[in-house]
Amino acid sequence: MLKKILLGLVVVVVAAAGLLFWRASSKLSATVEAPLPPIRAAADPQALARGEHIFRSTCYDCHVQDSSGRAVGGVMTDLPKPFGPITSANLTSHPTAGIGSLSDEQIARAVRFGVNRSNQRLIIMPVFGMSDEDLAAVIAFLRSGSPLFTPDERVQPRPQLTPLGKFAMGMGLAPVPTWPASGIKAPPKGATAEYGAYLANEVYVCAECHTPGVDGAKARGPDAFKGGFKFVDTPQGGIYSTNITFHEKGVGSYTLPEFSRMLRDGITRDGFALRAPMVRLRGLDDVDTEAIYLFLQSVPKSDSTLPEDAAPRVKAETQGGPEVLFTQLGCALCHGEGAKYRAMLKQSVGKSPEEVARWIRNPESILPGTQMPTYAHLLDEPQAAALAAWVQQQASTIP
Ligand code: HEC
Ligand code: HEC
Ligand code: HEC
Repeated sequence: MLKKILLGLVVVVVAAAGLLFWRASSKLSATVEAPLPPIRAAADPQALARGEHIFRSTCYDCHVQDSSGRAVGGVMTDLPKPFGPITSANLTSHPTAGIGSLSDEQIARAVRFGVNRSNQRLIIMPVFGMSDEDLAAVIAFLRSGSPLFTPDERVQPRPQLTPLGKFAMGMGLAPVPTWPASGIKAPPKGATAEYGAYLANEVYVCAECHTPGVDGAKARGPDAFKGGFKFVDTPQGGIYSTNITFHEKGVGSYTLPEFSRMLRDGITRDGFALRAPMVRLRGLDDVDTEAIYLFLQSVPKSDSTLPEDAAPRVKAETQGGPEVLFTQLGCALCHGEGAKYRAMLKQSVGKSPEEVARWIRNPESILPGTQMPTYAHLLDEPQAAALAAWVQQQASTIP
């Protein structure tokens, strides 16, 4: 009798799991309705600069996945492996492989409502509640002819989720947002928490990374900004997003200048380089960083800390040789063997070591929007020169 009841229970549980799985995966492939926002690329140069800043700060990390320096998309190396290879889309202006033949309105719909050209939900890509003006600026940059978008014929498949990935992403899929197709305005620019909320939530989507879990609505939920999402495993441990609420266990004791430096240059006050996939928000001005600072102060404080297996941040040992520095400063996470920007090192071949050293210390002075951190405060000139020579030697062996 007991055996029969147990068996019956097992059958019910298996059937329920199967049903849930089926529901989760069919949600991912279903077609949905979402309005086409009547938003076109902006035409003025100021908007173009704004669009470039937003693209480099928030779209680049997902859509530039190799060393071609183009937004060709590809398998996103920063995401947890168990979900399967997740590919981002080719955003070059190639007519079929890229977005060359999409209308501005279709691009606006992808960004605002997370719906692709075939009316399916975009997986992993967040939805952005940015203003019509900011969205028009981003589209202007996508259409600008920047070398990032030089046509590339590589066709990227939709994300190839494992069953676990399908289950997690399907169950967590948030409904298509209900905000309007047009008429969204940003609050007036100023050092206010309100403007900071706009930047953090709608433009740079900080909580998409700084919140645990894969629920599509997590960034607006009670755990937002407490950190703890695990990206990848490294030999030193997992790379996790951190608690960025103003609790003492988060960023509570950071001054505004320290906080601003972290966002723009990727360097903490203790001299650690923030590791990928933390983005570099190079184009933020002082009003923007203060607004985000004030907004985060208004978010409920969390005492959340990272789990034991988190990879510690390591400070560079000034005594270390170039090879040691390359790992300790986090260069290897972007440029190491197998890392996504490995071949970008080749750009240094044929330059003088002084020129390369200047790049390593202050890349933003050469390429203002670059995602590479600023190392000037961690490396003096002789160290940078030694590192530059070593990197150039490495680069000459990359095929
Ligand atoms: C967290 C990573 C991530 C971020 C950030 C991101 N994207 Fe995407 N994007 C993706 C992925 C992954 C896909 C493909 C998803 C799919 O096919 O389900 C995609 C697809 C797209 C598409 C394809 C639409 C179509 O019809 O084929 C467009 C357009 C796009 N992204 C534009 C942008 C822009 C513009 C930004 C910045 C405002 C951006 N993305 C930010 C990951 C991202
Ligand atoms: C693509 C994912 C991603 C996005 C988007 C992102 N972050 Fe991060 N952030 C991270 C990761 C991962 C770390 C941890 C890096 C490390 O430990 O080296 C981090 C670290 C930080 C730190 C360092 C905190 C500390 O503990 O010292 C701050 C501050 C921060 N982020 C703020 C922000 C803000 C503000 C935004 C939005 C404007 C944002 N982040 C957007 C992934 C992200
Ligand atoms: C977050 C990722 C990231 C990290 C960390 C990083 N870089 Fe880079 N690096 C880049 C990108 C991206 C480029 C290409 C420039 C661009 O398009 O922004 C680049 C370019 C370079 C180049 C070629 C530049 C040239 O024109 O000569 C060198 C050399 C280089 N990086 C060295 C380093 C060294 C050394 C470190 C550590 C001290 C480092 N990088 C850390 C992302 C990174």
